[in-house]
Amino acid sequence: MDEVTFKSDTVLSDVHLYTPNQRHLMVRLNSMGQPVFLSQFKLLWNQDSHTDSGTMGGDHRDVPREETPARTGSTGSPPGRGHGGAGSPLQAGVHAAGQEGMGAQLDEDGDLDVVRRPRAASDPNPVWPPRDKVHPMILAQEEEDVLGDEAQESSTHNIIKIEHTMATPLEDVGKQVWRGALFLADYILFQRDLFQGCTVLELGAGTGFTSIIAATAAQTVYCTDVGADLLATCQRNIALNSHLTAPGGGGVKVRELDWLKDDLCTDPEVPFSWSEEDISDLYGHTTILLAAEVFYDDDLTDALFKTLFRLAHRLKNACTAILSVEKRLNFTLSHLDVTCEAYDHFRACLRQLEQLQDSQLRFAVEPVEAAFPQHLEYERIRQLELWKIFVEPG
Ligand SMILES: C[S@@+](CC[C@H](N)C(=O)[O-])C[C@H]1O[C@@H](n2cnc3c(N)ncnc32)[C@H](O)[C@@H]1O
Repeated sequence: MDEVTFKSDTVLSDVHLYTPNQRHLMVRLNSMGQPVFLSQFKLLWNQDSHTDSGTMGGDHRDVPREETPARTGSTGSPPGRGHGGAGSPLQAGVHAAGQEGMGAQLDEDGDLDVVRRPRAASDPNPVWPPRDKVHPMILAQEEEDVLGDEAQESSTHNIIKIEHTMATPLEDVGKQVWRGALFLADYILFQRDLFQGCTVLELGAGTGFTSIIAATAAQTVYCTDVGADLLATCQRNIALNSHLTAPGGGGVKVRELDWLKDDLCTDPEVPFSWSEEDISDLYGHTTILLAAEVFYDDDLTDALFKTLFRLAHRLKNACTAILSVEKRLNFTLSHLDVTCEAYDHFRACLRQLEQLQDSQLRFAVEPVEAAFPQHLEYERIRQLELWKIFVEPG
């Protein structure tokens, strides 16, 4: 397949947007007939700006002060190929990526000087590399063959391989990797000590990327989402990266957890259902909950917050939820302005949770400063935010 085509009613994650126009390794069609690609994401253990010592579990003394993430004036993602279906917060309007730190510039008459984005990979005369190297590499058949066994083996601890689709309808967005997953993964790599030996629950895990990273330190990661097809892809990705699992850890368990349902499915006939043993381990030991890039639909955001609340009451221990969100600005006709409604709703839910009068639990919300090191290649745009919810007995 030389050229990937995108339909107008689909959304495409920025993570997959800037892949060089090369022969992609389409590994299979999923059960819905969507082409599945295999990408590799490189872990940059040795970046000098980073705190690690070149191995997993590096030195994490450089803990940042936590404060409100920088608010921003303009943002979003490029409209790009395949972005359509007005109104989806996973699609974006205005884009300032790659121009961080640039204030508005005026020319000598006082007109706004628009700074253009660097050329994209699809440009006919690309400057190479097209932008800062921010994309994962989609494996090409030839590249896999070129690497000898030895080279492949020595590089595996630096590589995460993920099967994913490219552009999907909104209901299938979990089959792509989103920037928030990489951002949250970076935070986990930075705070590995926090995750060491823990039981972790990820909600809306999609391809499983963040869970795989969490499992490099955690004892057990419950990687959850909905839909047998998505969960099967997730399971495949866990298997592809099993070499990264913490030694002696319980690994990653892929399970169905639907925010729209009150209870976990325990029907053994249903794929990815929960055993009684799982449930007792989950409630008995979980101390960290994760969710990346799941705040794009107000009803789903409400459902996710209800799920967090319900889970917090069932967990035996105090816990911390770590949430990543990308503040996406969209121009809407109804407002005739740029808005970020999905993000605003997310913030309102955080406030509500904090103000809740609950006889048993207390919820404290804190933003995390985004100054932690970057171990993965993606655009660390200012609109990426991380929030923590501390749940303690009231
Ligand atoms: C934008 S994707 C993010 C996926 C992944 N966390 C990432 O950042 O790459 C949103 C995820 O929320 C999941 N989701 C949507 N509705 C859900 C529900 N009712 N229960 C559980 N997960 C849901 C989707 O299946 C999808 O995987």
